[in-house]
Amino acid sequence: MSGRNTFYTTTPIYYVNDVPHIGHAYATLACDVMARFKRLDGFDVHFLTGTDEHGQKVEKAAAAAGMSPQAFTDKVSQSFHDLLGVMNYSPDNFIRTTEKRHYASCQALWEKLVASGDIYLGKYAGWYSVRDEAFYAEDETTVGPDGKRRAGPVNNEVEWVEEPSYFFKLSAWGDRLLEFYEKNPRFIAPESRRNEIISFVKGGLQDLSVSRTSFSWGVPVPGDPKHIMYVWLDALTNYITECGYPDESNPLWRFWPADVHVVGKDIIRFHCVYWPAFLMSAGVAPPKRVFASGWWTTEGQKISKSLGNAIDPIAVTNEFGVDPVRYFLLREVPFGNDGDFQRRALIGRLNADLANAYGNLCQRVLSIVAKNCGSVVPPKGALTDEDKALLGRAQGLLATVRAEIDEQAFHRALTAIWEVIADANRYVDAQAPWALAKTDPARRDTVMWVLAETIRRVTLLVQPFMPDSASKILEQLAVPQEARAYTAFDQELVPGTALPKPQGVFPRYVEPTKAAS
Ligand code: MSP
Repeated sequence: MSGRNTFYTTTPIYYVNDVPHIGHAYATLACDVMARFKRLDGFDVHFLTGTDEHGQKVEKAAAAAGMSPQAFTDKVSQSFHDLLGVMNYSPDNFIRTTEKRHYASCQALWEKLVASGDIYLGKYAGWYSVRDEAFYAEDETTVGPDGKRRAGPVNNEVEWVEEPSYFFKLSAWGDRLLEFYEKNPRFIAPESRRNEIISFVKGGLQDLSVSRTSFSWGVPVPGDPKHIMYVWLDALTNYITECGYPDESNPLWRFWPADVHVVGKDIIRFHCVYWPAFLMSAGVAPPKRVFASGWWTTEGQKISKSLGNAIDPIAVTNEFGVDPVRYFLLREVPFGNDGDFQRRALIGRLNADLANAYGNLCQRVLSIVAKNCGSVVPPKGALTDEDKALLGRAQGLLATVRAEIDEQAFHRALTAIWEVIADANRYVDAQAPWALAKTDPARRDTVMWVLAETIRRVTLLVQPFMPDSASKILEQLAVPQEARAYTAFDQELVPGTALPKPQGVFPRYVEPTKAAS
């Protein structure tokens, strides 16, 4: 074991009833940035994503595709796996709920819940949404003008279900959950979601149906295999299956409890109410934090299969590049808020923030260094107050970004980095190194050193967000791989180091029609 601090982050596991769209890419991106940051910051990291393959919804989707559930889930799960490469994600593992080890883990958890006296056999009679795979109380449903009854965060249709079912005594857990939220104020974020969950629990909890008998695609209940475990009990368990549950001597058990489960705002009840109750009942520590992200619409419309407007991650990254898309998703909208994916806004950010601000800074500085400073890191003379001010701001960024990442405030981390980029661009203009070339070449060299060093620090922090682009820039500054972790953050550029020929990293995006004319 490493002895380093651990960091475990997870994405929701994705239903395999449909192919991935940009909304699915979003939670995984947030986890990827945290995982990459923490690895660079010296943590022992585990980053998990995967697919949620059981339940009625998936069984129905397989039937509609004329395939067996297993063949269907194999196929769709692969498209979520492929997304990892498309978006340059770096998970440590990809879990599938159809894996054998996961059945064993779910059944072990079930047996613990039985042993705790929290499971009993009864009969469920109530509303169920197959789309949400969720049960709803009568007063949570409404009947629309079309005569259809709906419920839940996206108002999906519900149907009446009446069948024998095992129940989890959730009603007995309300006070313990409220106490848990009280003692762990960071457990649910953002704050608005925390309030939403607390008032839901204060409103009184009903026992939860945790098995179904009307279909067969899932994990059988131990000792009563006519019953299939409720898909959410199965799905949530993935987070501990990965760590070896119930075998706490598994080396991966060191990662439990998870540091951050990133989830969408539609699935917080499962993660913030059911999940900690199941775990506490089984004597397992609940996760440390659940962060609920908002939802993306596209050009003002809800993403929907029937509208055919889902942004395909493959198409959008082919057109704009992976890193600009990664940057846009995390910079455009504060994490936790809803956002609208607008092509115009993406192009705007790509050109303003990436090509003009950051790309241009690197390009200007590196080409002067190549042309006028003999393609080596320039010598560093005495530093002026302006030099020290800029270097100080770049140095202070690590602590700022670290704190923002711990709050999942990715947009604020990026804003802080881009403020230093703007400072550096102002500094270039104010120092006018091209004029110094004639009057004071030694001062010109110092100015170029200060700028190259500022780009180095900024780029070290850009790495988790835009790994490929950052790597290209660090190569141009001859920063070796082993000097890219944050232990080397204060390891300044050494004058005289030979630099490769500079190359632009962020080209301006020009609309193809305009480019052609
Ligand atoms: N299988 C469950 C999660 C189980 S976790 C133990 C599930 N799957 S899902 O595929 O329907 O959704 C996965 C995630 O994608 C959810 O967090 C959901 O909020 C998110 N998104 C789906 N559409 C989205 C947008 N349009 N925008 C942002 N996120 C979206 O729920």
